[in-house]
Amino acid sequence: MRVLVTGGAGYIGSHTCVALCEHDFEPIVFDNFCNSSPEAVRRVESIVGRRIPVIEGDMRDREALLDVLERHAIEAVVHFAALKAVGESLSCPLEYFDNNITGTITLLQAMQAKAVHRLVFSSSATVYGGAETIPATEDSPLSVTNPYGRTKLVMEQLIADVCAADAGFAAMILRYFNPVGAHPSGQMGEDPKGIPNNLMPYIAQVAVGRRDKLRIFGNDWPTPDGTGIRDFIHVMDLAHAHVAALRGLPRQAGATMLNIGTGKGTSVLELVRAFEMASGRNVPFEFVGRRPGDIAELWADPSLAQEVLGWRAEYDIERMCEDTWRWQSAYPDGYA
Ligand code: NAD
Ligand code: UD1
Repeated sequence: MRVLVTGGAGYIGSHTCVALCEHDFEPIVFDNFCNSSPEAVRRVESIVGRRIPVIEGDMRDREALLDVLERHAIEAVVHFAALKAVGESLSCPLEYFDNNITGTITLLQAMQAKAVHRLVFSSSATVYGGAETIPATEDSPLSVTNPYGRTKLVMEQLIADVCAADAGFAAMILRYFNPVGAHPSGQMGEDPKGIPNNLMPYIAQVAVGRRDKLRIFGNDWPTPDGTGIRDFIHVMDLAHAHVAALRGLPRQAGATMLNIGTGKGTSVLELVRAFEMASGRNVPFEFVGRRPGDIAELWADPSLAQEVLGWRAEYDIERMCEDTWRWQSAYPDGYA
């Protein structure tokens, strides 16, 4: 099956391209490289031993999307392309609405015009907002706390409306918890631009000596060790969830929302300790105040994904840290 992978040069998209190739899908990457490097796709090619077509283009360019859907006879789309930094979305909300929402509307229009009716969409646990119910199930209350989260919720709803209006259209909406880790080869991994916003890349850059210490946002949360708890999931487990979603789409009607997590919570301090063990390095840290908008704890109930897709996460925290370290220590400056 020929699959258009929007945002396929990004962190999750590139790892998913590896999994797609290994399961006999043919990925075609569409990316404007606003937050990634073409080098990521070259690494995918060297791991899987085959060429991957790459189209440099913007999701808001309808003609470019129509052209790629037709020219490559695309049968399904995995839609990763989006801006994803919460802090940045607070300072430039219009850019986020335009890039993420307009980009998704343009994609859906192009898919309809070319009769491509299968979509896997990257959503986020951010749609559970204040996380009133833990573990989160797919019918937990939805809310958002920032413009990035709002774009994810609106995009979920847009896709569900299109599926409701067109019985032939089916979508898997995957709500990722906290993706971390790297391909086990050490050749690919997360390469954030500038100062990392998220915990794992920050820890990895401290361990490798790019940053002097981690700042832990709060040690007074109502959790056993006082630090925040999240559901970290290995990026290759996440990649395999996309393979399972593509395989499951023909059996599914409408839009199906699925939590993609491990179902286990790990605290910030536990992750720091696990990374020290995996890397053999110290990760110096200091406690600072809570980050605005943070929540104490959140993890997934991933049982619906197992029921619908037959998928569940395999890798543990130790493996997530080992694979992150293999990549970070081999390429301290990422793809640069
Ligand atoms: P990423 O920034 O590494 O990848 C996104 C890719 O999309 C990049 O290659 C970027 O260049 C591309 N892109 C962005 N806007 C584009 C546009 N208008 N046209 C063409 N290409 C465009 O991010 P990621 O971590 O791989 O995330 C992938 C998806 O998963 C995003 O939709 C993100 O919101 C979602 N998600 C990520 C996380 C996470 O923690 N990484 C968690 C939950 C959900
Ligand atoms: C972040 C995003 C969320 C996104 C999710 C998945 C914010 C506010 N939310 O959530 O929209 O869906 O990533 O990737 O950015 N921490 C530190 N020091 C750091 C970085 C993080 O102590 O330098 C702590 C945080 O306070 C939190 C935990 O580590 O308790 C995880 O943080 P992070 O990796 O940013 O993920 P989320 O907060 O879950």
